[in-house]
Amino acid sequence: MELHSLLRTPHPALRTPYSVLLTPYSPMEPSIPDLRAEPRERAYAQLLEMQSLLLEGSDDAIAGMATVSALLHHAFSHLWTGFYRVVEPGVLLRVGPYQGSLGCQEITFGRGVCGTAAAERRTVVVANVHDFPGHISCDARSQSEIVVPVFDATGALMAVLDIDSSVPNAFGDADRDGLEKLVAWFARATYVPVPV
Ligand code: SME
Repeated sequence: MELHSLLRTPHPALRTPYSVLLTPYSPMEPSIPDLRAEPRERAYAQLLEMQSLLLEGSDDAIAGMATVSALLHHAFSHLWTGFYRVVEPGVLLRVGPYQGSLGCQEITFGRGVCGTAAAERRTVVVANVHDFPGHISCDARSQSEIVVPVFDATGALMAVLDIDSSVPNAFGDADRDGLEKLVAWFARATYVPVPV
């Protein structure tokens, strides 16, 4: 579908009419493009554009997590893509919106790849999960993993984004950069209650 047709026919998943969309698609086609063959930088640029259109005007963290999970999971055909939310700061993560097979419910800070990324507030890339001490296996097909911390507007850790792949060494610098840009939306856009 050409861009001019898209401008007249916004995709129903979009909250508001939009003026520019990088990936042509129609409501009759899958709404998330398969980006596996694209250079990663270009693929993430496309996903960032879709994220900003889909979440325009939203300050809802759960809506953001659900949308980012769906975009990434289907664009790259990952094994598991989703969020673990901080439910006790410094202590406990609990599963949030995700796509893929069943994830474990809770992870303590410091445990596994997610707990390590949360405790150390940094992105952790694992080329081979079998080499990572304490890796928590939720799916035996998982071979490699990336976990990215998600911060709110105050700089507090609110969640981690966890992606598992059935391909060894699936994640590199372009993924780290692209994913960190995607989760920066949470610090910019989500609502943080002011303590009274
Ligand atoms: N592998 C993760 C656990 C979460 S699942 O993979 C969905 C970890 O080691 O923290």
